Amino acid sequence: MKWIKGDFLHAGKAKDVYAVKNHSELVWMEFKDNLTAFNGKKKSSFKGKGQVNRDISSLVFRFLKKEKINNHWVADINDTGMICQKIKVVPLEVVVRNRLAGSTAKKFQISEGQSLSKSLVEFYYKKDELGDPFISSEQAIAFGFVSTKSEIEFLKEKALQVNEKLKYFFDAIGLELIDFKLEFGKGEDLKNQGNKPDEEGFLLGDEISCDSCRLWDKKTGEKKDKDRFRLDLGGVEESYRKVLECLEQKWIQEIKI
Ligand code: TMP
Ligand code: ASP
Repeated sequence: MKWIKGDFLHAGKAKDVYAVKNHSELVWMEFKDNLTAFNGKKKSSFKGKGQVNRDISSLVFRFLKKEKINNHWVADINDTGMICQKIKVVPLEVVVRNRLAGSTAKKFQISEGQSLSKSLVEFYYKKDELGDPFISSEQAIAFGFVSTKSEIEFLKEKALQVNEKLKYFFDAIGLELIDFKLEFGKGEDLKNQGNKPDEEGFLLGDEISCDSCRLWDKKTGEKKDKDRFRLDLGGVEESYRKVLECLEQKWIQEIKI
């Protein structure tokens, strides 16, 4: 299929979004080399980062599709493009935590790495200017970001299902999934692409990569994700590239869609 890039629609921190000519049901996501943290306050980049994140995200989305977790991935294009089903993004970041790290560890002054009696799902309001504040399920409904309690429950349940799949996916290359962030949208049925939204009408979107997951080496505990940049640990590019290389070695044959 020859996709043609259409009008520019939206600039994100790590991706730009374009229309796809003659396909109003699709968008063209272009992964950029930018690296940002703390809601854009800290900025950097490395050459090829867009390609690495597109490739990791593509592997993850194709793996999830195979595992019957519907998502917006349709096809990869060029080195840094991804054709996706157009969705109306819900302004919530859905975070799943298997161990405490990052903002929640800091907020409660609990030491990083503490295990949890069960995986935790948290919601954050997607608004950089406000620093993506924590939002309760009740607030998310009251403010109209989702319409019903059953939608919130559905997002929690779906995020936990994705968690089980992703833990397995990364464990296979020696990495422990500490936490990660998902975004969902409301999608329309897309014929023949296998991207049918779930019964509540949601489709998993955005990206899933070293930018949006915390991944620690199972043996040494070494951080392999964006915390290398957030915490000035160095070796960001090497780490991202190594994660991709290991994922490709392990999964590319099995995924093949
Ligand atoms: P946090 O500990 O900073 O709340 O982050 C939890 C997880 O969500 C972590 O894996 C990083 C990811 N994340 C994003 O992908 N984007 C964001 O804007 C934030 C705040 C976190
Ligand atoms: N995703 C946010 C940013 O790019 C926050 C973070 O990752 O720390 O600024």
